[in-house]
Amino acid sequence: MARMSAPDAPSAAPRILSGMQPTSDSLHLGNYLGALVNWVRLQDEFDAFYFVADLHALTVPTDPAVLRQRTRVTAAQFLAGGVDPKRSAVFCQSHVTEHAELGWVMNCLTAEGEARRMTQFKDKVAKGGNANVGLLTYPMLMAADILMYDAAYVPVGEDQRQHLEITRDLAERFNARFGDGGLVVPEPYIVKGAAKIQDLQDPAAKMSKTGSSPKGLIDLMQDPAKIAKNIRSAVTDTDAEVRYDVEHKPGVSNLLVIHSVLSGSSIEELEASFAGRGYGDLKKEVADVVVEALTPFQARMRELLDDPAELDRILASGAESARAVARTTMERVRERVGLLPAGR
Ligand code: TYM
Repeated sequence: MARMSAPDAPSAAPRILSGMQPTSDSLHLGNYLGALVNWVRLQDEFDAFYFVADLHALTVPTDPAVLRQRTRVTAAQFLAGGVDPKRSAVFCQSHVTEHAELGWVMNCLTAEGEARRMTQFKDKVAKGGNANVGLLTYPMLMAADILMYDAAYVPVGEDQRQHLEITRDLAERFNARFGDGGLVVPEPYIVKGAAKIQDLQDPAAKMSKTGSSPKGLIDLMQDPAKIAKNIRSAVTDTDAEVRYDVEHKPGVSNLLVIHSVLSGSSIEELEASFAGRGYGDLKKEVADVVVEALTPFQARMRELLDDPAELDRILASGAESARAVARTTMERVRERVGLLPAGR
């Protein structure tokens, strides 16, 4: 489905929306397989909005210049991964100021205890992380991101499921309090298997920008030799059978999922092809498949980063499309909750 060139031209296709935080120098293979490949697939069918969650990233103290650079890199990685700015709006969350405004409305609909019960908040506090109030209200801003665009679906990895549940609760609460039809209640779009890519060194934990060690993670910009090395040293088990069994063989299962999503072969086909062969063969093939997918990605990244003005133009045009929708939603929200029109 083609994006309309006029920013406020209505589209008949249902909307989808998703975002990623610019909290590291590059996205990793979990972000790519768990979310980005689906973003790319879904932009054909849906009116898609994809953004860099730079406001969310402020919950982690970061040098301002580094945050700006990571924001650009994250947006460029969406494009290098195949998001087409002609079909999808690609933008920065902070460029559409309505997100923060709707986030405030969501804060006022959330009980303090409800916010404190969110797993990601509890985990970060337990790890002794910086528990600023932004971290506590993070899910309410995320709900605002989604509800702003009347998104029917939200393509994300498994770790975002609880945030989507609270988003649905908040939309239902808003509608119950202020009248039906106020906000669209979204559905998660979480693809089984790839929705949780595990750390290569600790297959019981998810691959994560902040939690994984350098050997546990494949950064999308990593040198191919380093990628192959990390995959070769992935933790497996003492058995020798290549079989998908998340409970007993989490490391091998993780490698099979990575191979399957990138090569398009089913898990069953892979199990058959590796019958009687060892983990060394599996790792070599997985490394080849990953390097083959990331080589054109990395080349495209170099081109995109060489032309920052073009990237900024894409982000400006994406923000314009996003703002047109956000403005309409906020007019509706302001009217429903009882804020006086500004009389512009
Ligand atoms: P973030 O930046 O942590 O992750 C971006 C996307 O990558 C997925 N993901 C994974 N998928 C599979 N395996 C993994 N190991 C893995 N690690 C990360 C995440 O599920 C996500 O889809 N809160 C969000 C950003 C956000 C957002 C939104 C998302 C802000 N507002 C509105 C959707 C809609 C986050 O921190 O994602």
